[in-house]
Amino acid sequence: MAKAVYPGSFDPITNGHLDIIKRASEIFEEVTVAVAINSSKEPLFTIEERIEIVKRVVQDYPNVKVDTFNGLLVEYCKDKDANVIIKGLRAVSDFEYEFQMASINKKLVDDVETLFMMTNTKYSYLSSSLVKEIARLNGCIKDLVPDELVPIVRGKFNL
Ligand code: PNS
Repeated sequence: MAKAVYPGSFDPITNGHLDIIKRASEIFEEVTVAVAINSSKEPLFTIEERIEIVKRVVQDYPNVKVDTFNGLLVEYCKDKDANVIIKGLRAVSDFEYEFQMASINKKLVDDVETLFMMTNTKYSYLSSSLVKEIARLNGCIKDLVPDELVPIVRGKFNL
C-alpha cells in the first residue's frame, strides 16, 4: 500500500477536509496531512496553530500523521518517500486549477501521482474561506468545522 500526502493550508481545517482524511486513511497505509507554511494567502491561524488544531482533530486515526512543509510539494513527497498526493474535488470549478497543479507536479516529479477524491456531497459547498467569512460576520459555523473548533475560530474574531 502507498503512502499518501494530503496537502493544504488548513486555515482552518473543515469537516470537508476531515471527511477526506478519514476516507483516505482507510485506503492508504499512512496519510500525512501536510500543512503548508508558505501559502500565498495571508492565513488567519499561524502555522503552529494550524498544526496543533489538525493534530487535535485527527488524533483518533492511528495511521494519520501531521507535518508541515515549505517549498515544492513534490520535493516534500520525495523526501518523505510518499508516492501519492491526495486532493479533494468539490465541484467542476475546482477541476481546472487542480488539473493544472497535478500536471505541473507530474512534470516536476514523474513518480508522484495525484489522486482526486470527490468530497462528500454534504460538504460540496464548504471551504475554509467561507468558514472564516461566516465566523467574521458572527454566523453559525456549527457542522462546518469539528465542534471543538467552533469557539477557537470564533475567538479569532473576538466572538
Ligand atoms: O488548501 P490550499 O490553500 O488550497 O492548498 C494549496 C497547496 C498548499 C496544496 C498548494 O498551494 C501547494 O501545493 N503549495 C506548495 C507549492 C507547490 O508545490 N506548488 C505547485 C507547483 S507550482
